[in-house]
Amino acid sequence: MISKKIQDALNSQINAEFYSAYLYMAMEAYFHSLNFLGFANWMQVQTQEEVSHARKIYDFINERGGRVTLDAIARPAGEWKSPLAVFEAAYKHEQKVTALINDLVEVAAKEKDHATGIFLQWFVSEQVEEEKNASEIVGKMRLLKDSAGSMFMLDKELGKRTLEQEGGE
Ligand SMILES: [Fe+2]
Ligand SMILES: [Fe+2]
Repeated sequence: MISKKIQDALNSQINAEFYSAYLYMAMEAYFHSLNFLGFANWMQVQTQEEVSHARKIYDFINERGGRVTLDAIARPAGEWKSPLAVFEAAYKHEQKVTALINDLVEVAAKEKDHATGIFLQWFVSEQVEEEKNASEIVGKMRLLKDSAGSMFMLDKELGKRTLEQEGGE
């Protein structure tokens, strides 16, 4: 069994992961509206990843004899001023999620729930990857500035991203 405190903390992380999925889905729609279909594809893969993160926590709560409860998902932003602004927002968002995961690790340590601590290690590493992915794109976009030709190239590159490449995580 998990404690009520851990159960509540994990349930709120499920909500945060779904919010991430929702935010990336909103970003995908924004890119569709601009016809940047490669950027939209990248966001679609990211959305799927976030849903799989929520599912991982969902399954873990059940495995530990806890009770999953689902809350309302907050409304994400829908408009940004440029593709760069979108990826900057994504990077900032991932930094926030990293802080949430770190807080969860602290709660597990305080509760002496080592199984949850070990479970969360996967998310700690995943956040390193998430931050790196978003910040690399921000870096490239800043370098390329707003040149239409280079944005087109980058759009093409990000259009190649698939979920399989990342082992479905
Ligand atoms: Fe996530
Ligand atoms: Fe994420």
